[in-house]
Amino acid sequence: MNLILLGLPGAGKGTQASRISERYNIPHISTGDMFRAAMKNKTALGLKAKQYMDEGELVPDDVTNGIVKERLQQDDAKRGFLLDGYPRTLNQAQALQQALASTNRRLDHVLYIKVPKDILMERLTGRFMCSNCGATYHKVYSPPKVEGTCDKCGSHDFYQREDDKPETVENRINVNEEQTEKLAKHYSDLGLVREIDGKQSPKQVFQDIVDILN
Ligand code: AP5
Ligand code: ZN
Repeated sequence: MNLILLGLPGAGKGTQASRISERYNIPHISTGDMFRAAMKNKTALGLKAKQYMDEGELVPDDVTNGIVKERLQQDDAKRGFLLDGYPRTLNQAQALQQALASTNRRLDHVLYIKVPKDILMERLTGRFMCSNCGATYHKVYSPPKVEGTCDKCGSHDFYQREDDKPETVENRINVNEEQTEKLAKHYSDLGLVREIDGKQSPKQVFQDIVDILN
């Protein structure tokens, strides 16, 4: 199954991606995660991406298209994939289309998680992650079961993403809004969009996705 998760920052793409990837045994390919890993390792890609990410701007298309194309050529992506946060522009959508066509693959569904803008701000500024395994939490909506302890790995170390500061969050939402609408239209013209109400609980959102995919 070849899937795209579309939605504004904070719509819940990462939250659902972990679940979908586990349930359907397909790799979760997140450009944001790839850039953050490169930043952590201080590679040339990481240093370049950091300039944009810290401001909530998009990393240039040529850089992003290159890393995704390479990732999609890896063996595990041949049994299917879940793209999270890519494509984010029409240019990226075209590059993806070419990369897939050249290897005789096509998209099955574009899962579009819709959440009103006012909710996104609150979700992103309240988000925190486990420093050890990357699990995502929210201080109000999905705190760890035992306070201060990661449900998945037991670690007590958490951090907040650099770009989740209120001033950056606002810019990220604005930067992505127009492009996301254009992408939704593009994929809807191709008959691929499945809209999901992202205001519901994470569990219910996942159930809606499973209903679509089954
Ligand atoms: P990226 O890492 O992709 O971030 P994003 O798109 O801004 O999305 P987020 O990860 O912030 O949100 P999400 O939808 O995954 O929400 P989550 O599940 O965590 O990109 C970061 C940056 O990298 C970009 O700004 C850009 O600079 C660069 N970049 C990445 N891809 C690029 C590309 N293709 N082109 C160019 N540049 C690119 O949920 C958010 C919070 O809400 C969490 O706390 C969660 O617990 C909570 N939550 C989730 N679901 C629910 C629910 N149903 N109800 C209540 N709370 C919920
Ligand atoms: Zn953890």
